[in-house]
Amino acid sequence: MPALQSIFVKAYWVLAGVGILWATFIGLLVVPTVQRHALYAHKFQTGFLHNVSNPEEFGFARGQVQPFWLDTVDGEKLFCWHVLPLDVYLENEYELVTAPNAGDTVEELKGTVGERLMRRDGESRVVVNFHGNAGHIAQGWRPSTYRSISGIPRTHLLTCDYRGFGLSTLNNAPHIPTESGLIIDAISLLSYVQSDLSHPTTRTVLLGQSLGTAVTAATALYFASPTSPLLPKQVIDLDLPVKGKKFRGFTAIVLVAPFRTLPDLLKTYKVAGILPILKPLQAYPRIANWLTTRIADHWPTLPRLSALVSESSTTKPPQPFHITLLHARNDGDITFRESEALFAPLQSLVLAEEGSSATEERRSIHGGERVRRGAFAYKKVEDGTGERVVELEVVRYGGHNEVVGWTAVSLAVRRAFERTSLRPGLDVE
Ligand SMILES: *[C@@H]1O[C@H](CO)[C@@H](O)[C@H](O)[C@H]1NC(C)=O
Repeated sequence: MPALQSIFVKAYWVLAGVGILWATFIGLLVVPTVQRHALYAHKFQTGFLHNVSNPEEFGFARGQVQPFWLDTVDGEKLFCWHVLPLDVYLENEYELVTAPNAGDTVEELKGTVGERLMRRDGESRVVVNFHGNAGHIAQGWRPSTYRSISGIPRTHLLTCDYRGFGLSTLNNAPHIPTESGLIIDAISLLSYVQSDLSHPTTRTVLLGQSLGTAVTAATALYFASPTSPLLPKQVIDLDLPVKGKKFRGFTAIVLVAPFRTLPDLLKTYKVAGILPILKPLQAYPRIANWLTTRIADHWPTLPRLSALVSESSTTKPPQPFHITLLHARNDGDITFRESEALFAPLQSLVLAEEGSSATEERRSIHGGERVRRGAFAYKKVEDGTGERVVELEVVRYGGHNEVVGWTAVSLAVRRAFERTSLRPGLDVE
């Protein structure tokens, strides 16, 4: 008996210890700096093991990836990659490998062999990728996303590390990544693509994952409505050439594992699919609510996408948009219910427009009815012209991170470009 008793005593202290650690962790999160370290996790990376200036280390062909620096409007320098599609690479391999600066990180993308190939092709397409929190540009599964997109013909991928991530600088106060800071990074990149590289938004897909979906939604709203009160003040005050340009929509906005808002997310979020944040406090709503009021960056994706849908209907003609929400059923970090909760209000907004219609297909886990695209669930709502569309695809596998590099996402991007190539008139800008 004494042995059994001592096991119970030990188990009790282990449980109490875990509880105290969790409570300490939550208590520390009230401090904004600690909170932002936890949210952005930009220091959590393996840059010391890997060399992001040498893309061959991550499985790319020599000269296929051009590392470059991007200056943001507020004086940060972001470390970025231009990943060439395989068809363009194959046709121009010799020129790419023997270029004078081949293998170097350049100060400016414009003028490089890859960029000239992109500009010379009047039908080239661009995917701008916004990665999630933690790590650097080539951390974990990220290279597999770039590889999967590089298989799409004539489709170039551009992606940067946000300020404070990887090799990117962090000159501006408060010297830690912030919501407005990351949005300014994303807008700076898209403005560079549109204004400096003269690449039209109508041949550009925005692709975000996890935290990157919140960055993407804010950026898409900025292009549709640069003075929207749902954007941070520092962002509204930016003086950029895109402001004066007539905006004709992006080819598509693809959000993989998105969430409504950060406070909503924290109620169910589990770090690495294991460590819960606010979930243990479900029985204590007052403590949970108080903690929620201490959240510094809210990342209100649902209000921002709603504003994008409503405000783009007021222009004449209404601005087109195509929003794809994609989520894996087995995502352990952010539940696919977040995507469903994001889709429902957007669907209502579109349904309020004249001539709109909605479709829905669902398959039980045990099989049975067939669902288009082999998905677990698929929903779509569109206006009468078919140019303003929101769709939701819940796929069965892929988890939180790996799914971005899987076929469902590259198919979503391919479909987006196929659609626009059917309507060549839209491409003239
Ligand atoms: C990283 O790779 C670049 C490009 O190949 C090279 O110039 C640089 O010396 C490498 N850095 C280290 C620390 O190995």
